Amino acid sequence: MAEVNGVPNEIKSSALELIGNTPLVALDRLYTGPGRILAKCEFVNPGASVKCRTSLHMIRKAREAGLLKPKDPVIEVTSGNQGCGLSVVCAVLGHPLTLVMSKGNSVQRALHMEALGAKCIRVPQVQGKYGFVTQADFKAAEAEGIKLAEKSGSYFVNQYNNEMNVDAHYSTTGPEIWRQSGHRVDAFVAAVGTGGTFTGASKYLKERNPNILCYVAEPAGAEPIKGTPITKPMHLLQGSGSGCVPSLFNYEYLDGTFAVTDEEATEYRKLIGEKEGLFVGFSSAANVAAAVKLLQSGKLPEDAWVVTLLNDTGLKYTPVAEEIQ
Ligand SMILES: Cc1ncc(COP(=O)(O)O)c(C=O)c1O
Repeated sequence: MAEVNGVPNEIKSSALELIGNTPLVALDRLYTGPGRILAKCEFVNPGASVKCRTSLHMIRKAREAGLLKPKDPVIEVTSGNQGCGLSVVCAVLGHPLTLVMSKGNSVQRALHMEALGAKCIRVPQVQGKYGFVTQADFKAAEAEGIKLAEKSGSYFVNQYNNEMNVDAHYSTTGPEIWRQSGHRVDAFVAAVGTGGTFTGASKYLKERNPNILCYVAEPAGAEPIKGTPITKPMHLLQGSGSGCVPSLFNYEYLDGTFAVTDEEATEYRKLIGEKEGLFVGFSSAANVAAAVKLLQSGKLPEDAWVVTLLNDTGLKYTPVAEEIQ
């Protein structure tokens, strides 16, 4: 704690100190048991998502390794949340930032990044439609981002291949869950985008207690981790379910997967709002839907505690008129 004239104060020195240590809340009104769902409120991060953790860790580690010098420009390909997190971190640390994102991701994300001084390049979709980003749409944005990174010589964060993405969750999300639950975790559930959250937090939790079971929530019909053919590439779970197994995903920690339909994600999003007073995005709702399925599956003791993440705020998904999409 800081001190002025011998009087302690609680002033945070910058927005970077607002990242992580998110509260763990019991969803006891939505799910009344048997068992319990505990959710990490990642929307309270300053970039309004879990991705602030990885943004801070990847940039910090790149600076420590000398790969990124003060004032150097940074570039990243994002489905939005990583871009918002990097915008917070780069604004505070003084790095000019360019983000490349599919036009199918919500416009609120681009507005958020630009409000924090970043430049957002929105790449036209090749397959899906606004609000529904397919693997082909993501690949189109990725190709544009890689081309720009090579041309500009900016530091490319490369969240899909950056081991510090996993390490961020191994060193923060996992330990926080362990501490905040009083070491009482029976299972962990996460939706997968880059795989950073699942791999990092599961690794930490299984090291503490190998009996903790770790599950993935996948969009129904786009379940590459389960290993079934993609029959529905368009889904509502923006930021997750990109249609392929990301290179950072580690099967060693996987105990199983649950498929969540768009209808279930929509229903759970409404329930989380109306029963818990928490306005969250679709992948958060998918996590909770999968946690309920797990508790009802008979795979856990009756009084099990399942921990998951509320990945981002619902404000990033409010519908907008077609002309501003
Ligand atoms: C809304 C949302 N949910 C879930 C995820 C998945 O997180 P991870 O990339 O750690 O797998 C992301 C990643 O961008 C996201 O934006």
